[in-house]
Amino acid sequence: MRVLLIGPPGAGKGTQASRIADHFDLARIATGDLLREQVANGTELGKVAKEYMDRGDLVPDDLVIEMTRDRMVEANEEGGYVLDGYPRTLAQAEAAYRWALARGIPFDLTLYFEIEEQELLARLAGRAREEHRSDDTEETVRHRLEVFANQTRPLVDYYQRRGILVPINAVGPIDAISEEIFATLHWHKARTMSAGVNRPEWVLGPTAT
Ligand code: AP5
Repeated sequence: MRVLLIGPPGAGKGTQASRIADHFDLARIATGDLLREQVANGTELGKVAKEYMDRGDLVPDDLVIEMTRDRMVEANEEGGYVLDGYPRTLAQAEAAYRWALARGIPFDLTLYFEIEEQELLARLAGRAREEHRSDDTEETVRHRLEVFANQTRPLVDYYQRRGILVPINAVGPIDAISEEIFATLHWHKARTMSAGVNRPEWVLGPTAT
């Protein structure tokens, strides 16, 4: 199973990605975590990425695409993955799509986490008090929300046109949200297995953007 999660900062993507990965025995590929690891290790990529991340901007597409590809191959060979925070721009989505199509491993489902801005601000303020993430300051969080609206939100239409978008109500108890997601993924898995090949991404092809 190859699942990707889209949602604004604080929507709960990381929280639910870990649970999905455990429940379905998938690898979790979280570009934010991978980039923070590069920053912590002081690599060349980390030095470049830090400037963008501290401002709340997206790291350039080519760097993120390159960083993510090998991990997707490895994870696919081990049974699949849940992508947390990637793709995040139309350029990333197109690159991921063409690359996956060429290898016969298109995405199965995109879960879109729907949530109001007030709830996001409250959650991230709470995390800022506990974890001190450098991009969780109030000003940077507001900028990250704008970046989401301008650069990532268009992916909702993109995946809807491909027929693989499922909205998830991301407000409420964490366990209840997990249950909704698990039910959605189990249903999809059963349907795909009983129907043989049922992959809207295949049907639409790369020009359906
Ligand atoms: P990234 O680490 O991906 O951050 P983000 O998308 O802004 O997401 P967050 O981690 O803030 O939130 P989340 O949705 O994962 O929520 P979480 O589960 O943590 O990216 C950071 C930066 O890296 C980007 O700004 C960019 O610079 C760069 N980057 C990453 N990917 C990139 C890409 N593809 N291209 C270019 N640049 C990229 O939950 C948040 C809080 O809420 C937690 O405290 C949690 O405990 C709590 N919470 C979760 N669920 C609930 C609930 N149901 N009720 C109450 N509280 C909850």
